[in-house]
Amino acid sequence: MFLSLIYVLLALTVVHGFTLRAWDQAYALANATVANLTLTEKVGLLSGVGQFNSRCVGNTTPVSRLGLPAICFQDGPAGVRLVKNVTGFPTGINVAATFSRRLMQVRGQAMAEEFRAKGVHVLLGPAMDIVCTRSFYFPLPLIQRYRLDAQPQGWSRMGKVRNHQPRCLILNVLNESPSGLHSFGPDPYLNGEGAFATITGIQSVGVQACAKHLVANNQEHWRYGLSALVDDRTMHEMYFYPFLRAIEAGVTSIMCAYNQLNGTSSCHNAGLLGPTGLVRSAGFQGASATLSATGAQRTIPRRTTRTQGSTWSSREIISSLAGGVFGEGGGNLASAVNSGAVSIARINQMVERVLAGYYRLGQDSGYPTVNFDAQHSDGSGSLNLHVDVRSAAHTALVREIGGASAVLLKNNRTTTTGTATGVTTRGLPIAATRVKTMAVVGQDALLPNLSCNDLNECNDGTMSAGWGSGSNSLQYIVPPITAIQNFVGTSATIATSLSNDLSAGPAAAKGKDVALVFVNAMSGELGAYDTVVGNMGDRNDLALWYKGGSLVEAVAAVCNNTIAVIHSVGPVSVSWSDHPNITGIIYAGAPGEQTGPAIVDVLYGAVNPSGRLPFSIAEDEASYGTTIVYNSLGFPVVNYTEQLLIDYRYMDAQAITPHYEFGFGLSYTTFAYSGLKITSTGSGSSSAVTVSFTVANSGAVAGTEIPQMYLAYPASAGEPKRVLRGFDEVKLGVGASATVTMSLSAREISIWNVVSQAWVRPAGTFTVTVGASIKDIRLTGTF
Ligand SMILES: *[C@@H]1O[C@H](CO)[C@@H](O)[C@H](O)[C@H]1NC(C)=O
Ligand SMILES: *[C@@H]1O[C@H](CO)[C@@H](O)[C@H](O)[C@H]1NC(C)=O
Ligand SMILES: *[C@@H]1O[C@H](CO)[C@@H](O)[C@H](O)[C@H]1NC(C)=O
Ligand SMILES: *[C@@H]1O[C@H](CO)[C@@H](O)[C@H](O)[C@H]1NC(C)=O
Ligand SMILES: *[C@@H]1O[C@H](CO)[C@@H](O)[C@H](O)[C@H]1NC(C)=O
Ligand SMILES: *[C@@H]1O[C@H](CO)[C@@H](O)[C@H](O)[C@H]1NC(C)=O
Ligand SMILES: *[C@@H]1O[C@H](CO)[C@@H](O)[C@H](O)[C@H]1NC(C)=O
Ligand SMILES: *[C@@H]1O[C@H](CO)[C@@H](O)[C@H](O)[C@H]1NC(C)=O
Ligand SMILES: *[C@@H]1O[C@H](CO)[C@@H](O)[C@H](O)[C@H]1NC(C)=O
Repeated sequence: MFLSLIYVLLALTVVHGFTLRAWDQAYALANATVANLTLTEKVGLLSGVGQFNSRCVGNTTPVSRLGLPAICFQDGPAGVRLVKNVTGFPTGINVAATFSRRLMQVRGQAMAEEFRAKGVHVLLGPAMDIVCTRSFYFPLPLIQRYRLDAQPQGWSRMGKVRNHQPRCLILNVLNESPSGLHSFGPDPYLNGEGAFATITGIQSVGVQACAKHLVANNQEHWRYGLSALVDDRTMHEMYFYPFLRAIEAGVTSIMCAYNQLNGTSSCHNAGLLGPTGLVRSAGFQGASATLSATGAQRTIPRRTTRTQGSTWSSREIISSLAGGVFGEGGGNLASAVNSGAVSIARINQMVERVLAGYYRLGQDSGYPTVNFDAQHSDGSGSLNLHVDVRSAAHTALVREIGGASAVLLKNNRTTTTGTATGVTTRGLPIAATRVKTMAVVGQDALLPNLSCNDLNECNDGTMSAGWGSGSNSLQYIVPPITAIQNFVGTSATIATSLSNDLSAGPAAAKGKDVALVFVNAMSGELGAYDTVVGNMGDRNDLALWYKGGSLVEAVAAVCNNTIAVIHSVGPVSVSWSDHPNITGIIYAGAPGEQTGPAIVDVLYGAVNPSGRLPFSIAEDEASYGTTIVYNSLGFPVVNYTEQLLIDYRYMDAQAITPHYEFGFGLSYTTFAYSGLKITSTGSGSSSAVTVSFTVANSGAVAGTEIPQMYLAYPASAGEPKRVLRGFDEVKLGVGASATVTMSLSAREISIWNVVSQAWVRPAGTFTVTVGASIKDIRLTGTF
């Protein structure tokens, strides 16, 4: 609370004078500008200067005679990448674990303040790809590489596929920049709220957000050409839903995905992008639904030439904005106009859409000029001006989110008095006054290589982000070991074993008052192009890396107060969790540069944990309803036959009990729920339901509860057994209580009707459950 107060005070002093315009006004300005542009200039605004000619990861060609700058597109979703003097923010999965719309929004704003100050017009995020917890092990990486390289001109033929049956969801993994880590997990509602709040925050300081990746970009393996088959209802209720919320937040741009949907590239898929496709039907007015400054865009110019002149009923060219890898496509586009294959009206519309976002957020006036050079990420060269965009407020916010996203999974606490008010003897929070000897074990406690390459393909210390274009640039990081040593000072002796050595760890921990074991699991981007410790983007399995589980067990065998801290991009196997000597387990995600101070706050009780799992942790991969696809000799078809049933929805349907359920997380205090009231008014599309209840802090310390609301539809609706439909963040002192109100819109109690192509409220009785997780139900009612 203290930290967030500081943040708010400092934020108020930051002035970002900009005028938010209505779309109509923005289009009027865009149209007037377009009227003055030559064809070459228009094409330059669509195809850009090429990734490797850009100061950013993508730039449009400037039109200096009209004062139009090179519009700058920059990674990534967890802070500025390829640039020095910036903050390493927490990942999307961490802010999802806070279940705090407040923190989601201020994180978006704080990141955007840094992008703005660096001169970036478009922040390439947030990612909102639903995490399917697929692991997808493909043992023949060379095939993928071969196919990409062998047919550089042949993208449209690359869709040749092999159909894998059965396909109940692919397996694995919370991957990095596209799928898992930087989105908000496997639940569409949580992803939608995360997208809405993040975009609201980003655009509040005049930076354009870019919702990505449209759509079904749910795995790294084969993402350059797999074809996702997603039926209409599943699309609306699951994969498109976060984009719908992004559009409602006023997002100015959307990035299409590399993968195909229904056999057609996402980037020229009329069902997605056409005049009657999903995004326009949802009211998207923004710059080019097809904007894809880095990712998919790299391949677009080629495809553009193959599909030019087609109509939306088949394929359509798209605006290939902001720089293909080689800046190709522009010349082809101009020729296509000159030959009549593409109308100038279409080109004008594309350019207007690009410029509309720029004008809508007032970027035509007083916007900082680009002051870095992404081509020299080490900070060298005359174009890197080293503008320091860090601030004390951002640092404090990263630490606050790190603490608020830590999920306390186990706490077998004993105290001096045997009561909750006693001083801790084992478990959490650690009582610094009682601990004289301690051990810190595990490579994950250590400072990582801060000079890792541009894609952060290192996991040689603590894990604070994944690898790929979703990584951020770390100016510095405070690793757990440093923060612990600083905090403990001389109050205890600290033995260390900062590796995963299965002998040295227990040797350091034996007989100590407490042993802290840091373990991790990482994922990343680019599939077979970017293998890290044998993982091709997607994780190979649910195991902790470097035998982390064995390390925890080895330490627990010799220390009866072993506390495990997991830095992971998603669920990991915790088969060891019931070990009686393991008194505490914290899932800390990928929390950004203040990872050390944030975990100290939680370990020693300055922060009472309130993080909740934004996914289920199950015993094994099979519990996620997935099958591993091996040996695909070409881009596979991925049929989303599981439809609405992923993660907890699948486990509910199959009566699988997860190890730790969705929404789960312990606190150092306890909360009591009472007084559920449900008010239902209207019917059909004018329905509105209000749910209220009281939450009280019934324990011994102040804390934050995250009440969650789940909805069970009438059986005839064909919905999962329960779906998340509300959450809140309630800070309460000891003995304090608060009334929490959550509302359900007509859409939130509807299903997507594929016949009427509308959200329709099913007839019958709905059951509302309110509680501290999907299984920890405290109140139940109906309407
Ligand atoms: C801008 O031009 C397009 C045609 O390209 C037109 O549809 C739109 O109404 C115009 N908008 C404004 C605000 O003039
Ligand atoms: C377009 O060009 C005309 C004539 O040169 C100029 O008066 C006008 O300001 C320009 N408009 C824009 C939007 O650049
Ligand atoms: C910016 O980053 C560079 C390179 O890491 C560093 O040497 C310099 O001190 C930083 N400048 C500021 C103002 O923080
Ligand atoms: C994809 O194909 C399925 C099955 O034919 C259909 O229900 C769905 O509407 C299609 N999606 C899009 C965006 O065209
Ligand atoms: C850090 O990573 C870079 C890039 O992989 C490598 O060249 C360098 O040797 C690493 N530094 C250390 C200390 O491991
Ligand atoms: C834990 O181990 C310590 C010695 O390392 C011992 O003094 C203590 O009694 C043990 N506590 C329990 C609950 O086993
Ligand atoms: C728990 O730790 C104690 C040392 O404190 C050890 O003697 C005992 O064997 C451990 N228990 C298990 C189940 O490993
Ligand atoms: C919790 O710790 C106590 C000893 O302090 C032990 O008896 C009990 O088995 C532990 N419970 C679990 C679930 O590990
Ligand atoms: C995809 O799965 C659906 C539902 O099981 C099935 O109806 C459809 O035929 C499958 N499509 C393909 C191409 O296998």
